[in-house]
Amino acid sequence: MRLSERVSRISVSPTTAVMQAAVKLQASGVDVVDFGAGEPDFSTPENIKDAAIEAIHRNFTKYTPTGGIRELKEAIVERHARDFGSAYSAEECLVTVGGKQAIFEAAAALVNHRDEVILPIPYWVSFIDIANYSGGKVVPVETRESEGFALRAEAVEKLISPKTRLLVVNSPNNPTGAVIPPEEMTKLLSLAERHGFVLLSDECYCHFLYDGRPRFSLGSSKNRDNLLIVGSLSKTYAMTGWRVGYALGSAALLGAMLKLQSHSTSNPTSISQKAAVEALRGPQDSIARMLAEYDRRRQRIVAGLRAIPGVHCGMPEGAFYVYPNVGQILEAMGVEDSTLLAGRLIDEARVALVPGPAFGTREHVRISYATSQDRIDEGLRRLSTFISKLSPAYAQAR
Ligand SMILES: Cc1ncc(COP(=O)(O)O)c(C=O)c1O
Repeated sequence: MRLSERVSRISVSPTTAVMQAAVKLQASGVDVVDFGAGEPDFSTPENIKDAAIEAIHRNFTKYTPTGGIRELKEAIVERHARDFGSAYSAEECLVTVGGKQAIFEAAAALVNHRDEVILPIPYWVSFIDIANYSGGKVVPVETRESEGFALRAEAVEKLISPKTRLLVVNSPNNPTGAVIPPEEMTKLLSLAERHGFVLLSDECYCHFLYDGRPRFSLGSSKNRDNLLIVGSLSKTYAMTGWRVGYALGSAALLGAMLKLQSHSTSNPTSISQKAAVEALRGPQDSIARMLAEYDRRRQRIVAGLRAIPGVHCGMPEGAFYVYPNVGQILEAMGVEDSTLLAGRLIDEARVALVPGPAFGTREHVRISYATSQDRIDEGLRRLSTFISKLSPAYAQAR
């Protein structure tokens, strides 16, 4: 069958592919340590589930307005104001089917063929495919591993051209856990204003910050004309399957995104919207509990990885991923990038993780520590044993 050129520019999300491979093995009885999944292993809090059940009993099961119910838009902007000091109105909010839909629609609404989309490396897998699908030309901006992969406005500025339409940032970052300092974020927004492009700030992990780092959102800025915030309830409230996200931005841009939504998914699920209202307005203590547990796991996995010869691992500042450098191991294997290593790890050591090329770097792997401490310990044991067998040098160093 002849498929469109447009769809041939993209591939199935590599993280989804890893997840599916792990699930398939698990279904056939194989014990896989799954470091691939980018989702909390916690259950959705009871009060949120109850709100959904009540919505069903009350027959809140019909179409809703395409851009979400008013009650939810108000709950989103209120919560954002409380958490970040922003001042959005409900008219500046669009509810979407996960944050992913907001990003997809924003790219489709803003980017013309060959317009430039500036994208920091390492990037979340969907950013690049969404930009490519929209017809844009991705302009990668390097970050430095020695600086914890934090994006600098200076590096972005050098890449701006008259064709720049969009800059996509994600802090805390998937896959590195890097956090862009507030002053750099502010500089990035100034660049967007000066050069007339849109800064899309993906705040999907905004509540998962370690070591007492304060929460920050560009949404609290005075001038927000060139800003689009994308948020999600998926990670914050352990609600990945409910598919609720949102965008905060100018009415003109949200109107264009709404048009796309009206012809694709229509509204986000009515039941999930009621659950989301409860998530945002109900008790927030589950977030602190999850964060404390993620922090324990972060310490454990970083210490464990650092003890494996050939693995170099920085300390992530947010989110729930580590992005260790395995360049020395690749050298010992005689391979260019971590794809083969990830393949062998799942086949031979039964450890699932995502190879760096999915995020735009050659010599890293992404490990999600959204899994129990026991599984983390087991995964570390398997990684260590596998790597020690690869090369006598690593065996000796142990
Ligand atoms: C950086 C980033 N943005 C957005 C999303 C999308 O989340 P959702 O569509 O579940 O809201 C994810 C999911 O993994 C992510 O990692």
